[in-house]
Amino acid sequence: MNINKSQALRCIESLRKGIPPEGFIRYFTVGRKAEIGDLIFRLESDNSTALLLKANYGSGKTHLLKFTKEEASDRGYAVSYVVIDSNSEVRFNRMDQIFAAVCRNIEIPYEKGKGVRTFFDFIINKLQKNQKLYRAISSDWTWEFNEMFDSPAMLIGLRAWKTGIEEIKSLIEDWFYNPWNYYNRRKELYKKLVVDLYKYFRDTRPEYIFYNEAIFSFNTKGHEQSWAALRDLNKLAIESGLRGLILLFDEYEDVISNLRRINYQEAAFWNLFKIYRGKDFSGKAFFAVTPDFYEKCKNLLISKQRSEFDLNMLKKLPTHEMTPLGPDELEELALKILEVHGIAYGWEPDCIMKAKQLSFIVRNAASKPIPDRVRYAITSIVKCLDNLYEDWEENASGAN
Ligand SMILES: Nc1ncnc2c1ncn2[C@@H]1O[C@H](COP(=O)(O)OP(=O)(O)OP(=O)(O)O)[C@@H](O)[C@H]1O
Ligand SMILES: [Mg+2]
Repeated sequence: MNINKSQALRCIESLRKGIPPEGFIRYFTVGRKAEIGDLIFRLESDNSTALLLKANYGSGKTHLLKFTKEEASDRGYAVSYVVIDSNSEVRFNRMDQIFAAVCRNIEIPYEKGKGVRTFFDFIINKLQKNQKLYRAISSDWTWEFNEMFDSPAMLIGLRAWKTGIEEIKSLIEDWFYNPWNYYNRRKELYKKLVVDLYKYFRDTRPEYIFYNEAIFSFNTKGHEQSWAALRDLNKLAIESGLRGLILLFDEYEDVISNLRRINYQEAAFWNLFKIYRGKDFSGKAFFAVTPDFYEKCKNLLISKQRSEFDLNMLKKLPTHEMTPLGPDELEELALKILEVHGIAYGWEPDCIMKAKQLSFIVRNAASKPIPDRVRYAITSIVKCLDNLYEDWEENASGAN
């Protein structure tokens, strides 16, 4: 395979910890033919919106999400991989936090880096001067072009970004990454992003409109502007020649274990349905959950006497139930790890590790009655290869 030594080292370091190796997920993927076929079909289909990927702990949810990320990126989509984590301001009931996390993690095919900087630089570079969107963010801004954006904040951000002033760019990044820090700093945003940029463009709206219409807020009226801004990200991606924006949400079941109030949890479920419905955000989204997700939701809603919540909606969400990888697939994976370990450390493990030995480790790990046996198999193989390499190195230096 086409992989250099430092890439191979990164892959092995990642696999040593049982983490899918970033950028090489597809090379290290075995099995899952049906799921992958369907994922690709969904990436190509216009109708597909949300999909749940359901599997046990350590069975490959993150792996498949990242597989989808690589595949989507290759097919020309902007992607954003977000880990839901209520303890660090990524709560699914708070669409302003979700919008911010999507912004922090947004990636563009073949562009280095991620985040608003990568995305906005790309957009401004790609939009053609005759496109309405371009005119909306450039100096001949008029009311007519205002309509091009669903989110007035997105227009303000992108229009100010186009000035190219570094200090302004940093402010916009900080605003979009932490919008809640600016809910009581609206005047500052108005001054720096509108008034002070008068020589680049003229915004004829009076100041009070910016506050009355909550133009700098992402959390009013059911997070209306957060949804609008997500739609705009998707639209901007399309207008600049990409196929759209794909959202990948890992560890969605965090909403059950870490969101503290039932009304927050319900709001988080509604947001999932809204994505599935496709009206509030028309891009595609993939969610990783554990197999007991539905049961846990059900128990939670019953225990909190939320009988009016329609559980069937949760049940009916399109889902992939992933079965565990079998021993043959794990053996195929082990051979790939062996090859890459050789490239990483400049040795030939297959001369030392007999195929039988490899097969024994794999089958032993595969037979363990633990849910995350794939991770266990991978970490055992890397550990065994590490040990053999140490012995080999010692013998080699002894021989000199
Ligand atoms: N189809 C696959 N092919 C190759 N390796 C896989 C596959 N699925 C999972 N793995 C590997 O198994 C390990 C565990 O997978 P992963 O981290 O995706 O599991 P998970 O379901 O997200 O776990 P958790 O519940 O802990 O979040 C990783 O090293 C990953 O690369
Ligand atoms: Mg995971």
